[in-house]
Amino acid sequence: MILYFTATGNSLYAAKQLDDELLSIPQEMHRKNRHYKADRIGIVCPLFEFEMPPMVKDFIRGSEFETDYFYVVVTYGMHHGGVAVRTDEFLKSCGIDAGYINTLIMHDNALIVFDMDQQRTLEAGKQVDEHIAQIKADIDAKRTMIQEPEQGEIDFYNGYIEHKKKAGPMYSFPLYRIEDSCISCGTCTKVCPRGCVRLVNGKPVYDYTGCINCMACIQACPVKAIRFASVKEPNPASRYRNVHISLAEIIRANKQDLPEAE
Ligand SMILES: Cc1cc2nc3c(=O)[nH]c(=O)nc-3n(C[C@H](O)[C@H](O)[C@H](O)COP(=O)(O)O)c2cc1C
Repeated sequence: MILYFTATGNSLYAAKQLDDELLSIPQEMHRKNRHYKADRIGIVCPLFEFEMPPMVKDFIRGSEFETDYFYVVVTYGMHHGGVAVRTDEFLKSCGIDAGYINTLIMHDNALIVFDMDQQRTLEAGKQVDEHIAQIKADIDAKRTMIQEPEQGEIDFYNGYIEHKKKAGPMYSFPLYRIEDSCISCGTCTKVCPRGCVRLVNGKPVYDYTGCINCMACIQACPVKAIRFASVKEPNPASRYRNVHISLAEIIRANKQDLPEAE
């Protein structure tokens, strides 16, 4: 059993190759009693600023897992910054003794920082499928391993923390604005795992209070009518979704049943 979170499909693509039984965390969050029992239970999610996304941590904190083998795979784009060790500490604080925590380098979807077209040119060199096959072999063998970070990753993470202390966060809320070119297709309302966007009189209204900056909405808008409110994008013309994952799969994973708009 894998519990996954995805905004642009990378983590879902990986999860689909690691197990057949997949449950979406944004959907599972609605369950009152979250108790999962399986021979092996995995969490597959993206890296957000060198951590598991807060929503995934909240999910884990509020769930019970009954298994012989608990594992985590965190997908990331450029630097994992030693997240496996921090994740192990976090899980221990939740009473979970993980058998395996690893990272998987994929396309970097951080639209604030990177040009998605330029990122596409790096994909082949990241050898995603080869790494997934290695991780699958590890998990099938119930290998015990918490990824040890290289010194370069530790230094990169420490540099980021220092920079953030001085410069503050990279962005502020409201993160997005919706331009008049919007065609009212409602895609943004369906891919948001937090139900932050609703159509009101046919126009999307973004309530940023629950936004976790996963970028699902801005990446999926078919006419690029969603823009960062105050951050200049490296390439405003480029967007990303994992080529193996359909928009319908992202919607199935993330769509929230929103109350009727007033
Ligand atoms: C808010 C945000 C923060 C991110 N932070 C990092 C990071 O610290 N390091 C990194 O290498 N990639 C980072 N990424 C890139 C994603 O972790 C990566 O592209 C991931 O595979 C996306 O998975 P998904 O398609 O399942 O959403 C970040 C992406 C977002 C949206």
